[in-house]
Formats: sequence, C-alpha cells, structure tokens
Amino acid sequence: MAVGIAVGDNKKAYPGNLTPFVTVTCIVAAMGGLIFGYDIGISGGVTAMPSFLKKFFPSVYRKQQEDSISNQYCQYDSQTLTMFTSSLYLAALLASLVASTTTRKFGRKLSMLFGGILFCAGAIINGAAKAVWMLIVGRILLGFGIGFANQSVPLYLSEMAPYKFRGALNIGFQLSITVGILVANVLNYFFAKIHGGWGWRLSLGGAMVPALIITVGSLVLPDTPNSMIERGQHDEAREKLRRIRGVEDVDEEFRDLVAASEASMKIEHPWRNLLQRKYRPHMTMAVMIPFFQQLTGINVIMFYAPVLFNTIGFGSNASLMSAVITGVVNVVATMVSIYGVDKWGRRFLFLEGGFQMLICQAVVAACIGAKFGINGNPGELPKWYAIVVVLFICIYVAGFAWSWGPLGWLVPSEIFPLEIRSAAQSINVSVNMLFTFIVAQIFLTMLCHLKFGLFLFFAFFVVLMSIFVYYFLPETKGIPIEEMGQVWKTHWFWARYVADEDYPIGGGYEMTKGGQGPKNV
Ligand code: BGC
Repeated sequence: MAVGIAVGDNKKAYPGNLTPFVTVTCIVAAMGGLIFGYDIGISGGVTAMPSFLKKFFPSVYRKQQEDSISNQYCQYDSQTLTMFTSSLYLAALLASLVASTTTRKFGRKLSMLFGGILFCAGAIINGAAKAVWMLIVGRILLGFGIGFANQSVPLYLSEMAPYKFRGALNIGFQLSITVGILVANVLNYFFAKIHGGWGWRLSLGGAMVPALIITVGSLVLPDTPNSMIERGQHDEAREKLRRIRGVEDVDEEFRDLVAASEASMKIEHPWRNLLQRKYRPHMTMAVMIPFFQQLTGINVIMFYAPVLFNTIGFGSNASLMSAVITGVVNVVATMVSIYGVDKWGRRFLFLEGGFQMLICQAVVAACIGAKFGINGNPGELPKWYAIVVVLFICIYVAGFAWSWGPLGWLVPSEIFPLEIRSAAQSINVSVNMLFTFIVAQIFLTMLCHLKFGLFLFFAFFVVLMSIFVYYFLPETKGIPIEEMGQVWKTHWFWARYVADEDYPIGGGYEMTKGGQGPKNV
C-alpha cells in the first residue's frame, strides 16, 4: 500500500514476554469494560418493559397503549425516553475530563477505583428507584463511573502490555464491553418475564456486579511502571517492570520511560499543551477516531435492536431474541480481532471492517426501503425477509466488532506520548461520549424522518472514515508505545507537523537526555 504505513527503520525491540503476571493483570483490568457494556445493553431492554414505563414515564406508556400506529417508523419517537438512555453519556463526558487529572497525578488505578465505586452507587440507587429523580441521579453516577473507567482502563492496558501483544491485551477492554452488553441483553430477556413487573429493578441493580468486579480489581492491581515513574517512584517502577516483563534486563525500556516522564514533567498546562503543532496528528486522531466510531451507527443496533426489530415487524419476543443474537456475534467477532490485531495490523482491520459495514448498510436500507417504502406501512412480512435483515445486521455487527469497536479504544490509547497521554485520552473519551449521546438522542427521531435512508446516512460516514484511515492513519502494530513518534515523522502527511527534534532518529528519548530532549514547553 502506497500511503500510511510508516514504521521507521529504527524500530526498537525491548526484551520481555507475555508473562502470566501481565496476562492476568490485563484480564482483570480489562473487566473495567464490563460496566460500560452492561449499561449499553441494559437500557434499551428496560425502557421496553411496560411496568417500567408505566411507573416512570406514564405519558409514554399511555401513548404506546392508545396509539393505533400506522407509521411504523415513528412509533417509538419520544424524547423523554431517549433522554433516559442518553443522559448518562453527558455525565460520562464530564467525568472523563476530571479523570484526566486523577489518572495523571494519582495513577491509573485510582481512576479505576473511582469508576467502580461511582458506578456501584449509581446501580444501587437505580435498582431501588422510587421516583424519576432517583433514576436520574443514578444514571448520572453511572455515567461518572464510566467516564473514569474508560479514561483509565485503555491507558492502563496499553502501558502494561508488552508492545508485541499490546493490541490483543488492550482489546480485552472491548471484549468486556461486548460481554457486558450480551449479559445485559440475556438478563433483560429473562427479567422482563418476571410476574409483578419488578424485573427492571434486577436489571438496573444488577449493574452492581460488574461494578464490584472493577472496584475489587483496581484494589489488587499493580500500578503501571509509566504511572509510577510519572509520580517519582523510580526504584519500585524498575522492579515492577522486571516482574511484568519476566526478564532481568529492562534497562532500555526503563530508560525510555524515565525520559518520557521527564519530558512530561516539564508540562505545566497539559490541556494548553495539546494545542502545539507537533501534537496535531494526535489531536486529530483523538477527535476523529471516536467521532467516526459512533458515526458507524453501531449504537443504533446496541441501544435499540429490540425496538428496531420490532419496528420492522418482529414480535416482541423475537425482537429480544434477535438482540441476543447480535450480542453473541459481537462477542465472537471481537475475539477475531484479539487474534488478528497484532498480526494483520490495525489498518487492515479498519479498512476491511469498513467495507463490510458499508455493504450491509446498503443491503439493510434496500430491504427496509423495499418493504416499508416512504409511508412506513409494510403489510404482511415474509419470514425470509426477516432472516435476511437479521443476517445482514449480524454481518454488520461483526464488521464493527473487529474493527472500529476495539480499535476505537486501542489506537488512541497507544499513540499519545506520555506528556499528553492522560489529557488526550480524556478528549478521546469525551468525544466518544458526546457522539454516543447525540446518536442515542436523535436516532428514533431520525428513523421517523429519514426512514430507511437512516442506514444510508451512516453508510456515507463509513465511506468517509475508510478514506480517512487509508490516507491519514499510520500503522501502529508492533511499535513500542514510547517510540510511537516515529510513525508520524515518516508519514507522508503528518511529517510536516513533527520536527526531527521532536522524535530524534536513533530511537526515542534516551538519546535526548541532558536537556536536549523533546521540547515540550
Ligand atoms: C463503543 C460503544 C459500542 C460498543 C459495541 C464500543 O467500542 O464505544 O459505543 O456500543 O463498542 O460493542
């Protein structure tokens, strides 16, 4: 491929193995994704439970009962209801900004701990909710928890992992997200059947389980060497690095980490610092990657799969079941990514996944358009029709799950140099949350107005994002995280933003000691 691959000749190879220690550590940390996933999966199902609607959103409930709906596209169009789902993402957006400081000053672990505790509190309040205000307070706490966890967990994983396995270990986070979504979908399916209509309490309160896992996990996990060095604990950090890598000779990596940390110390204003010219590539990715991830339209499926399947004519049980099927596809396809990401590279997965999603969006739009037309009145729907739609939605979900899903978290977490890592990751999370919020909030209205064209709307963005990746995203597979500067320096476009002294030839920071180092102030 002519463009975009920029690895540099002076690739470093730090010694180190995939030790059991690092594997277990990363698995535990990755479980931080469970709280996010559980929430994504649980809200849609809960808002479809009549007893829940009746108690908290009686006007929506009444509307659903009364309406003899002729236009299927518009039957769920209600701002109040979408607000319940999407409010959490605004809270997460705010929390991820605060988490930047916690993560940098007090370590990645503490942010994870905060994440777990806040999420747990939110789950308790939601499970016990007696009035709408309790629901909302609970949602806000859950959002805070997610903001902290999503800010710190991907960084933690990328810093802990030996660079050759960084992709696979980092994607553990996304795997937990998908497992969280699936578990939530399955639980909703069963809890919805509970007589007496209090199943939603179990669904919402059940979020305590993943919250406790990450809370306890963060207490037993070690801090990353990068983070310890950043806080001046050099000796402990060197010991920890030996333990993590399973080799005695960690000097080279350790020196680079120290140098990166020295560069980072010079930064007084991490936020303002982000605006420097040499961080232009990083900032572009911190904004564009999460933006595009959400504009794949994935959360239309994740939040509203039951609603969507219902809309296109499935009965309510079949709809919930289809949501479970897409959930399984999501988990399995994420495993494919874990297997391939450090072998095939990030760019290949991005481009292949994009292509796959595009085809499926076109087919789904055509199927829905053909049957529902403009006025949303399908008449009798044959079985084969439903099967084709679900099949293509599954292929679409698989495409996302081995590309933009995991890579949307992996790539940002591995490209930021230490001195901007925490702040830049907060931007990544907040942009992600902002667009998750926007998509969640306007989807049902868009379905009502754009009709089957909604799928073409997202398809258009998939084309844009694939072009973006092709031309602007360098391959980051197999490059040590503190060496990442080289990929910009040798990139056809980004080279103009990073000067030689920003990332000296000969590899990394150790050549730059004695005040010659990367100029960050
Ligand atoms: C995204 C979520 C999405 C999930 C689906 C994540 O990477 O950030 O918005 O719901 O993948 O598996």
